[in-house]
Amino acid sequence: MNAPAIPGYTHDDPALPASQVTAEDLEKLKATVLFGPDDEAALRTAGEVLNGQIEQVLDVWYGFVGSHPHLLAYFSTPSGEPIADYLDRVRSRFGQWIVDTCTRPYDERWLAYQQEIALRHTAEKKNQTDRADSVPHIPLRYLVAFIYPISATIRPFLAAGGHSDEQVEAMFQAWFKSVTLQVTLWSRPYAESAW
Ligand code: HEM
Repeated sequence: MNAPAIPGYTHDDPALPASQVTAEDLEKLKATVLFGPDDEAALRTAGEVLNGQIEQVLDVWYGFVGSHPHLLAYFSTPSGEPIADYLDRVRSRFGQWIVDTCTRPYDERWLAYQQEIALRHTAEKKNQTDRADSVPHIPLRYLVAFIYPISATIRPFLAAGGHSDEQVEAMFQAWFKSVTLQVTLWSRPYAESAW
């Protein structure tokens, strides 16, 4: 039996517009964050370790957002009322993103969905997927600042699989690089001509 479809998750939708970022640009960015084949391998292992812990990771991240009113505001109505359905629907896609970060090839399709995720944080597409009555956009500064908590909080989960300290460190570094790479890609629609 196929897993139930995740509402609004369009990674494999053939109608998804191609990314404006070329494969060559991606290669240069990967080189800039020192992301190479060893990191790809470490992410595959991380995917195995995180599989089965996704809900717990999401509990930590949602706890973090929920305990900071200035962040929860982006999942809330303009008057500040958190939107439970919006939080839930995004949570499922966030869980899938953890899996995709570890297991998907970073190819043209992945780049296209990177662009889609980026736009969903901006005024161009935020709220549309879930028909949410929320605030219109997430400031770029919070996307960049989020690289730290999204990276630091993953380490205990990576360490829970019984791997050596060296292997856990390799998985952590690969994860950190990938999150940095992705947020860099997501900054493009915010920066356009300056990117
Ligand atoms: C959507 C990851 C920063 C709020 C998403 C999704 C992912 C994600 C994977 C779902 C994409 C999809 O639709 O498939 C991340 C990562 C971040 C980051 C890795 C930084 C490292 C932030 C920040 C906020 C935020 C700082 C503000 C508190 C949201 C909201 C959505 C969303 C509200 C739903 C957007 C929509 O209406 O479609 N994020 N995010 N994100 N994120 Fe982020």
